[in-house]
Amino acid sequence: MPNHTLPPLPYPYEALEPYISRQIMTLHHTKHHQTYVNALNAAEEAYAKASTPKERIALQAALRFNGGGHINHSLFWKNLAPSQDEGRGHGGVLQPGPLNDAIVATFGSLENLQKQFNATTAAIQGSGWGWLGLNPTSNRLEIVTTANQDPLLTHVPIIGVDIWEHAFYLQYLNVKVDYLNAIWHVIDFQEAERRYTEALPAGFKL
Ligand SMILES: [Fe+2]
Repeated sequence: MPNHTLPPLPYPYEALEPYISRQIMTLHHTKHHQTYVNALNAAEEAYAKASTPKERIALQAALRFNGGGHINHSLFWKNLAPSQDEGRGHGGVLQPGPLNDAIVATFGSLENLQKQFNATTAAIQGSGWGWLGLNPTSNRLEIVTTANQDPLLTHVPIIGVDIWEHAFYLQYLNVKVDYLNAIWHVIDFQEAERRYTEALPAGFKL
């Protein structure tokens, strides 16, 4: 039995339209994410059989890349939801509550967070991920990026956005900023708030 399996999407492939097309979601989930899962399983099997430090070191890059790809995409599917603007769900809506309070305290408004997030994420050179993360030392929200498929290790991931071309190119071509503007319509702020409140120490007050 393989160690890792592709998690099912929590909504149908077309559920995020018109912001993310069915074609992108289908390929992204069944082809790209599945490939990370398969390659992670293969790398872990090879690691278990490796008998020398040299053989184990040679597998580090594959473990990092495919393990990160599996971790990041598993987070990504869950931090998206069908859009309320389309009458399909609760995506894109930040309700009053602890996450909204923290966003206003840190960025001034959700709109400011979105602007800063999009500018920082659009500036990633090559492939990577944009994150709203919780700094575990200061308990502050921060916008951070990771390269390639590196998972976010310095912060607790609250919202992650895949900025690999495979995430947007079939619909948005080279216009990364249109993809970034659109994706806020399908961000699951309920999931983000759950991650945020779980990550805070007990009794935390802003
Ligand atoms: Fe991806």
